[in-house]
Amino acid sequence: QVADSLYIVNDYAKKYYEDQLFNTDIGKGVGLSYFKNRGFREATIRKFGLGFAPAKKDALTAKAISEGHKIDTLRDAGLTSKFDQDFFRNRVMFSIHNVSGKVIGFGGRILQKDIKAPKYINTPETEIYNKSKVLYGIYFAKQSIRKEDECILVEGYTDVISLHQAGIENVVASSGTSLTKEQIRLIKRYTPNVKIIYDGDIAGVKAALRGLDLLLEQDLNVKVVTLPEGEDPDSYLQSVGASAFKKYIDEEAKDFILFKTNLLLKEIGNDPVKKTHVIKDIVNSIGLIPDPIKRSIYIKECARLVNVEEQLLVNESNRILAKQV
Ligand code: GTP
Ligand code: MN
Ligand code: MN
Ligand code: MN
Ligand code: MN
Repeated sequence: QVADSLYIVNDYAKKYYEDQLFNTDIGKGVGLSYFKNRGFREATIRKFGLGFAPAKKDALTAKAISEGHKIDTLRDAGLTSKFDQDFFRNRVMFSIHNVSGKVIGFGGRILQKDIKAPKYINTPETEIYNKSKVLYGIYFAKQSIRKEDECILVEGYTDVISLHQAGIENVVASSGTSLTKEQIRLIKRYTPNVKIIYDGDIAGVKAALRGLDLLLEQDLNVKVVTLPEGEDPDSYLQSVGASAFKKYIDEEAKDFILFKTNLLLKEIGNDPVKKTHVIKDIVNSIGLIPDPIKRSIYIKECARLVNVEEQLLVNESNRILAKQV
């Protein structure tokens, strides 16, 4: 029942931030115009529970207290610091919903570029908010994930919202943390198929490679879409438009083996020692796949892609598997 009071106060906060966004001069002038400039329509803003947290140090806390909420509950929900100040100040707000649609926490984005403050801050760990278990957008995506039998995985809040607005609703984000087993288990409730579309930068590619192995290990089928350098799903969609974006992700989606092989081979040129390394790395990923039939299909594919004898890779894969038990 502690959890119940946290849900209640989070719901209160969400409504407060929404009210600030839509019904105050500063919220409209700073927050709403920020979202609109990013191409978010009003219906989208309302659907995702976006809001605005004012700069005043205890704006939310004081109002909540005056309306009967307890300071301890506000603190336990991560909304109020131990010095009774609001945790989120002068930021545009993203409500974070659990799988059944309850608000469990928030992300707050800074408005102006400021090297001193972090771009996003998130609710600290609370009894109901554990960042390694949350998939941002899952409540709005789950039906569509089932229907499409595929889950698109992106990095950021704004990627989820942009794609959703463009009619691609089977999208969730891991939101800055690297993908976890708990998050993957949540996806698996709805589909075994995942399409990773991370940012087109070094961090995004590295995160995709990391996430890949974890997904394979959990027996998911993984495809990867690489975006042009410097783009993320939101920016690319806004720049090329919805239909070109959909076409791009359909055409560019590569099975994980192709993605990983192309990526790693590109980096090594003709160096045979490095090539050996890369091949072992790929076979290692294949070795994580629990299903032996799927594994052998990928071994065959890998042998073809890197142009070595299939039997060599089978041996290597068996060696890795033997080491695992
Ligand atoms: P925009 O700049 O608003 O388009 O956000 P973005 O989602 O493109 O941001 P970015 O690609 O830099 O980061 C991806 C996700 O990581 C964000 O949506 C956040 O959830 C998270 N993130 C980004 N920056 C920070 C940060 O400074 N601190 C924390 N805790 N999380 C961050
Ligand atoms: Mn960043
Ligand atoms: Mn990024
Ligand atoms: Mn972005
Ligand atoms: Mn991004």
